[in-house]
Amino acid sequence: MTTVTPMALDERAERFLALTKTGPDTDMGKLLRRFWHPVALASDVGPGEAKTITILSEELTLYRSQSGTPHLIGGRCAHRRTLLSTGWVDGDTVRCIYHGWRFDSSGACVERPAEVDTGMPRTRIAGYPVYEYGGLIFAYMGEAPVPEFDLPRKALTELEGAVLRNGVERWDNNWFQQIENSMDATHVSFVHHALKVGPFGAAVTNAVPKLEYQETPAGIRQIGRRADNNVRVSDWTFPNNNHITVPGLKPEDPWIDVFVWMVPNDDLNTTRFMIYSLPPGGSEESRQRFEQYFDTYGKYDPAAHHDELFAMREWNNPDDMFVGLTAAQDYLAIRGQGRIVDRTKEVLGRSDLGIVTLRKLFWRELDKLRNGEPTKEWRRLTEAERLPTQPGLAQSAA
Ligand code: FES
Ligand SMILES: [Fe+2]
Repeated sequence: MTTVTPMALDERAERFLALTKTGPDTDMGKLLRRFWHPVALASDVGPGEAKTITILSEELTLYRSQSGTPHLIGGRCAHRRTLLSTGWVDGDTVRCIYHGWRFDSSGACVERPAEVDTGMPRTRIAGYPVYEYGGLIFAYMGEAPVPEFDLPRKALTELEGAVLRNGVERWDNNWFQQIENSMDATHVSFVHHALKVGPFGAAVTNAVPKLEYQETPAGIRQIGRRADNNVRVSDWTFPNNNHITVPGLKPEDPWIDVFVWMVPNDDLNTTRFMIYSLPPGGSEESRQRFEQYFDTYGKYDPAAHHDELFAMREWNNPDDMFVGLTAAQDYLAIRGQGRIVDRTKEVLGRSDLGIVTLRKLFWRELDKLRNGEPTKEWRRLTEAERLPTQPGLAQSAA
């Protein structure tokens, strides 16, 4: 008989921490850099504007040329390290505010006015390819070759007549807790009963689901069965996107597809970028309701309501019963775990199958990366397949 030696606590702690570290020198940071990630809403930078953003623990300058092309380069000037977003956008380049060094979109220094030369192109800051899609700006921050922009594409959003809106939420905790939450179908039966508000709250079912998880070419398909006529399916794409469906705003409206990317800013902060997609074929009223609602409420920031949520457990906006409320509910639970949860102290059960499946998948890929073996080549699910919906039975939004 073989005896299995339990993993030492230090080793377990290290395995768990490896899931949370996103800097360029970490294994997870290297794995995540093999994928395109959304880094901003397209509307965040207008022509000729620049802003500082932090993604995967790197400070960066996102800017748009006057002609509208977005670019992403290092956050600070190579000379004396001031922020480049305070400088001037000049064509497809940025000029530093301090002594006028100019950098092109590859991050090469192309001019140093006070040195009377044409720059030092070998003096470089970072420069990353970007791609606009579905109202978001994506970037690839890894090594060459740059993968084709394909895995993040969502066939349903590309259907003729689909109406898209975006959302963004900034959460002050580690990205992996949010990824785990998307693979935790059981939480829906509880957390989305907290602060129950309006018809949406009343419609959420509290039946505990039977769970099933299947690895797909793109990631993990999650199936939660609460009854024969209530089967919730979501498609999660490696490493950080979840596709779910949620009921429309009125019973007569079609269900909405939601695509959520959970992007680490650093190890303690995460931005959730959303595409909400109303399928083609609905009525004009449905479309107007959808557009108006997401224009108004698509950018709810639960972290900005920290005190009212934690101290008063209050929900102060009864008109917004959907995006804001479900984000607030998830935020209470996930932020309540701490900024980085201590996984060595958890006690998991059968209903945590999704979380265990997810961690194993990441550990498998991280082990391959460490051993210099090829990691899995994930492929998007290309069919524009609708997830099942059950009119009249509302489910959670996240
Ligand atoms: S710090 Fe940018 S040019 Fe000197
Ligand atoms: Fe949720």
